[in-house]
Amino acid sequence: MAARRLASRSAADGTPRTVEIVIDGRRVAAREGEPIAVALWAAGHVVLGRSAKYHRPRGPYCFQGRCDGCLMRVDGVPNVMTCRTPAREGTSVESQNAFPSAELDVFGIVDWFFPKGMDHHQMMTGNVALNRVMQGVARRMAGLGALPSEPHPVVPVHESAIDVLVVGGGVAGLAAATEAARAGASVRVVEEADDVGGEMSSFPGRVLDPDGGDAIDARALVDRLAREARAAGASIAPRTSAVAAYRENAGKSGVRELLVSDGERIERVRPSRVVIASGAHDGVATFEGNDLPGVVSAGAAARLLSHGVLPAERVVIAGDGVLARALAGALEQAGAKVAGAFDARVERASGRGRVKSVVLADGRRFACEALVVAAPPSPAFELAAQAGVSVRWCATRGAFVAAAGDDSTPTDAWAEATGAVTGVRTLPDLLPAARACGRRAADGARGATA
Ligand code: FES
Repeated sequence: MAARRLASRSAADGTPRTVEIVIDGRRVAAREGEPIAVALWAAGHVVLGRSAKYHRPRGPYCFQGRCDGCLMRVDGVPNVMTCRTPAREGTSVESQNAFPSAELDVFGIVDWFFPKGMDHHQMMTGNVALNRVMQGVARRMAGLGALPSEPHPVVPVHESAIDVLVVGGGVAGLAAATEAARAGASVRVVEEADDVGGEMSSFPGRVLDPDGGDAIDARALVDRLAREARAAGASIAPRTSAVAAYRENAGKSGVRELLVSDGERIERVRPSRVVIASGAHDGVATFEGNDLPGVVSAGAAARLLSHGVLPAERVVIAGDGVLARALAGALEQAGAKVAGAFDARVERASGRGRVKSVVLADGRRFACEALVVAAPPSPAFELAAQAGVSVRWCATRGAFVAAAGDDSTPTDAWAEATGAVTGVRTLPDLLPAARACGRRAADGARGATA
């Protein structure tokens, strides 16, 4: 069996109510409130859709809302990220771009038919009539998903103002929010995930307590930081995304604001100062077959475990790092057979529909149901750049990073970045910088409103 629920985990956490969701007409048991993609993975549904052009199988890669592998039609709405959508009784889920199903898609023949790729711009251009037919077919096949069954209701737009808005409720965001609130600022944290903590919330092990020096469960550290932020007076809004930062009117005189949404309503927030603690996207690695369902990021495997789901019985972990090593131990403890390819590069992942085997560059070959890719994360600098924070290439990290604020940051800077988005990864470096950032934001907000 590829994946299974971990009984001990669910007993410890108090098992939520079991509900039924319906995928392509078939009933699947889910824990109420868990992400739909997690429920589907636990039930063996790893192929959730097909790619737009070649109809290659698609499945979740990140369980973090940062790839497109889990897009499905949910209750008549196309292209919903099912790793971010909670399972409810009777939720209807349909795979997209596939017939009759994502696992057995007859249009998958396109991929087989054009092994070297297809230049659809040049197809049948020699004959006007044939080209018209081709254009019509291409038009029908383009895009992903069909239009919604119903028009979307008009979403009310609200306006609000606050001293400091913190984007991202990971450990850096929580630490910055605490300090800003302790300095007297009104503070709100928006976090797109169900819960705060970022990648630390699902880290499968203990970390050194940056404030005490002892080893502490990663989740306990997150809980403590969240408690401190709330006690200081910061409000925390989970399942809420900051989707854009801009000036309301063109030109330097325009008011700066962020567009924030929890899916039900949209809010135009005008903060005096913004702290961008948007973290990092899970890393990807380049090798043949890296888009096969069953190939997941190390963060994704940790998130599945944190939901009480063993990603697979036979797992290959490719790549190294603290998370990769912690995952190997946690997966083995949960009963998986783990091959740690910590020092090797993946040459190829193979399988029909989902990963079945992995070949490493050194020639080793493993049979598996999941390949966990532990690649360096990529800072999520997009919103920081919109908010006016400078972004630079960091050769040592091989990634673009947002510039970290420090004491030389101009006091009138509207936005500052902190945490993993700046390329900082270790808690002893990350937390003091985040706390200083929070204090500067509170000072700046005070100056802006004086
Ligand atoms: S966006 Fe859902 S799995 Fe990546």
